[in-house]
Amino acid sequence: MTKRLYIETVGCQMNVLDSEMVVANLRQHGYEVVQSTEDADVLLYNSCSVRQMAEEKIYSAVGEVKRIKEAHPDRVVGIMGCMAQKDQAKIFDRAPHVDLVIGPGQLHQIPDLIQQVRAGSGPQVMVSLGRKEGTQEDIRRSHETFDPLRDPSMRPTPFQAYLRIQIGCDKFCTYCVVPMTRGPEQGRRPSEILLEAQTLADQGCKEITLLGQTVNSYKYSEDGTTTRLADLLRSLHEIDGIERLKFVTNYPKDMTEDLLRTVHELPKCSPYLHVPAQSGSDEILKRMKRGYTIADYRAMMERIHKFLPEASVSSDFIVGFCGETEEQFQMTMDLVREYRYKNSFIFQYSVREGTKANERLEDDIPLEVKKRRNNDLLNLQNEVCLEDNQRFVGETVQVLVEGPSKKSIKNGDDGPVVQMTGRTHCDRIVVFDGNRRQAGQMMDIVVREALCHTLIGTVHTKHLGPQVFQLA
Ligand code: SAH
Ligand code: SF4
Ligand code: F3S
Repeated sequence: MTKRLYIETVGCQMNVLDSEMVVANLRQHGYEVVQSTEDADVLLYNSCSVRQMAEEKIYSAVGEVKRIKEAHPDRVVGIMGCMAQKDQAKIFDRAPHVDLVIGPGQLHQIPDLIQQVRAGSGPQVMVSLGRKEGTQEDIRRSHETFDPLRDPSMRPTPFQAYLRIQIGCDKFCTYCVVPMTRGPEQGRRPSEILLEAQTLADQGCKEITLLGQTVNSYKYSEDGTTTRLADLLRSLHEIDGIERLKFVTNYPKDMTEDLLRTVHELPKCSPYLHVPAQSGSDEILKRMKRGYTIADYRAMMERIHKFLPEASVSSDFIVGFCGETEEQFQMTMDLVREYRYKNSFIFQYSVREGTKANERLEDDIPLEVKKRRNNDLLNLQNEVCLEDNQRFVGETVQVLVEGPSKKSIKNGDDGPVVQMTGRTHCDRIVVFDGNRRQAGQMMDIVVREALCHTLIGTVHTKHLGPQVFQLA
């Protein structure tokens, strides 16, 4: 009999990928995915611990299904992902109706664990070793990667996919929980990555985004040879059918000339680099233990501009970190003015248990100040986006079409002719009036108007025969 699975995901792309893998695995065990919590047999919440707010979101969603669990005790409620690893059995104190707590390193065990709960074994906690709970080798092994061979039905679009090349993180920025929740940095074996990419290409995938917390630090040594990200990109570039390659998230210190030259030389590599600066102040960067100074960061930006003058660069920033003065915050504003990021993700510092910042520094910036700095930086970034997007007006850009735009989905447009959305090679969002059938195609779009986060265009007709232009 088919069983019904409801799954909700918060957090970064790693979590999105993990959820896809879990769904694919459960599909093989006879589950179908449903959109409502009401009639699901299994309810899974893939959690994130990076900020307090992400945790609250999951607790609140899980709290909402308490009444369902009370009315139907046979239903299984599970919390997976980073908060499961971080809080483990403590989750039951706050959400006693939860049956399963599963860390990111145990996702492959989910079908078995659901069975055990069903069989009456009671609540189950399955997590990896902490960073001091064993030998390096044991800790590493306890954070298993879960990358079963790919099933196209589990992805939002069959022509785009994430591919994990690295798990964990060893940078230990003082504010961050990820090294604790995802464990030690480990590169996946190149042959496995290439096999997965080939499978994806065989399934019609055109764009692959390689994932790692510090993806450009990737390395794997085997039989006396070390493979780095640049080497991987060269091999992946050979795969027929793959048209675009992206990789996130980059660590400024590891943005080598060799990598940038490789991205320049390989046309399938997107001229797009997400490389978070976090702050514009040396003092704050030191307190964050980011491992670089603004001078190092500038040198990196010069390297990027030298090899990839057309590249778009995006960043993350934390405002209101421990002891951040107004002057130090203004240095971050200056950095955004100077480097004119394609976009920035801006976060208010959220103190996290288990981190060095929590142990050693005081979270002393009042909430109102954090909020104001967040707004100021966001407004500045939005101005930059709007101004820089103007230069695309009148240009023709090549877009990989993803599907109907958010607007047409929201409007419930159901005909074949709808507003479609896609992305340029440099990761800018483009919307245009088109046809659903264009999803997955590379199309030339003439940009007519530029908004802060979106370019609006029309289909470029020059190369298109009449058969393609029969939109309806
Ligand atoms: N590995 C990536 C990002 C990991 S988390 C990197 O190093 O860039 C994504 C972003 O969340 C970080 O870049 C940082 O800007 C933000 N972040 C992490 N911990 C945070 C905290 N405690 N409070 C606020 N923002 C945080
Ligand atoms: Fe967290 Fe720093 Fe690692 Fe990124 S590099 S995951 S911010 S510890
Ligand atoms: Fe969150 Fe874990 Fe990603 S803490 S940001 S889901 S690695």
